[in-house]
Amino acid sequence: MNVRFEPSGPLRGTIRPPADKSISHRAAIIGAMASEPVRIRNYLDAADTNATLAAIRVLGAVVEVQAEELVIRGGGLLGAQESPGVIDVGNAGTLMRLLPGWLAFQSGMSFTLDGDASIRRRPIDRIAEPLRLMGARIDAHQGRFSPFTVHGEHLHGIDYDMPVASAQVKSCILIAGLSTPRTAVIERAPSRDHTERIVLRAGAPITREPIEPSGYHTTIGDADELELETIDVPGDLSSAAFLIAAGILVRGSRLVLEGVGVNWTRTGFLRILDRMGAIVVGDLEPVGAFGTEEPVADLDVSSGPLTGTVVEADEVPLAIDELPLVALLGCFAEGETAVRGASELRVKESDRIASVVEGLAGLGADIEATDEGFVVRGTGALRGGALDARGDHRLAMLGAVAGLASREGVEVLGMGAAAVSYPGFADDVARLT
Ligand code: S3P
Repeated sequence: MNVRFEPSGPLRGTIRPPADKSISHRAAIIGAMASEPVRIRNYLDAADTNATLAAIRVLGAVVEVQAEELVIRGGGLLGAQESPGVIDVGNAGTLMRLLPGWLAFQSGMSFTLDGDASIRRRPIDRIAEPLRLMGARIDAHQGRFSPFTVHGEHLHGIDYDMPVASAQVKSCILIAGLSTPRTAVIERAPSRDHTERIVLRAGAPITREPIEPSGYHTTIGDADELELETIDVPGDLSSAAFLIAAGILVRGSRLVLEGVGVNWTRTGFLRILDRMGAIVVGDLEPVGAFGTEEPVADLDVSSGPLTGTVVEADEVPLAIDELPLVALLGCFAEGETAVRGASELRVKESDRIASVVEGLAGLGADIEATDEGFVVRGTGALRGGALDARGDHRLAMLGAVAGLASREGVEVLGMGAAAVSYPGFADDVARLT
């Protein structure tokens, strides 16, 4: 499906962005691991998170919709049922990397996971290695790709210093660690901590200490059971980010985004915007905070001029999914904008260094790829043209926002990819413009 986004007049109005994808995946997986029914309010209805519901059903959980809430009745920590077929993760990297943490301790059972063409290009050795160290057996295509099979075992604890800053890897190890006396994960730069918050609330023994110069040392121990009555999923800042960028770039815009999750491990993009001079007002969670809750705020966005900035490696995990938007904003900023230490972008739904640089260059941007990021020289404007989403939801929405802010409009090839995280995106844009 190709969709044209024409240069837009001011965006005005109030909108509630869709529910958080990361928290929805975790709510469903942890819900399936709990002993009592878990009610989830505002679960994301999108392709990725529907794949997670299908996966936990295959594993024996009962999922019902009751008065706008989702009720998950799982079988407890050791209650996964062996599935005869393949568990299809679709396009969902978070599902592919978190679920094996649980499956790895279903002793004596085997589970095979597979997904779409994009998933088959994304490495799983980053979770296979620590899970093997814990005692699980994993067979993967070419040793590191999907399809892969997890053979559950009785696991033992490890101390794992993560070679990549990844919340997915951290979460996988922490979930597996729920079956061990003590497991520790060291992350050298902080990444989203939704798993830590949700398992803490579910009663698991988890501790978290900052380490120098940044990052955390997190330990988890065995839990007899997880107990959670309800989970409220906030709005997704990573989805809201596309509307925020449109509001900043299209002159005369003024938007209010309601009910957005503002956990500080997700708001790196807002701190980058602040440095660029953008006006986004909201009651954000202070950096370093931790607890059982996910903070929520309304964000008030106004258009305005931008100056270039540099995003360094330690900031990357806190804004990883918004870095394509930093490139777009950089096109309109005064001076140069650079993102460094972001080689993780190469293993997202597409190679997001190549797809962002080639996509925006095709629209007239002065942008260059580096090994670990990109450099954009702002020209204050963007011509427009066509951008291929390459099956990547965030690329599709990037192209749409570029179109609204461009001189000639942008045709997005493959706009349907947006349904992975934000099925109503084009409708929300139409409502605001
Ligand atoms: C996610 C973590 C990030 C992010 C992804 C969702 C999560 O991936 O890019 O969209 O829910 O944990 P990595 O942790 O692999 O960087």
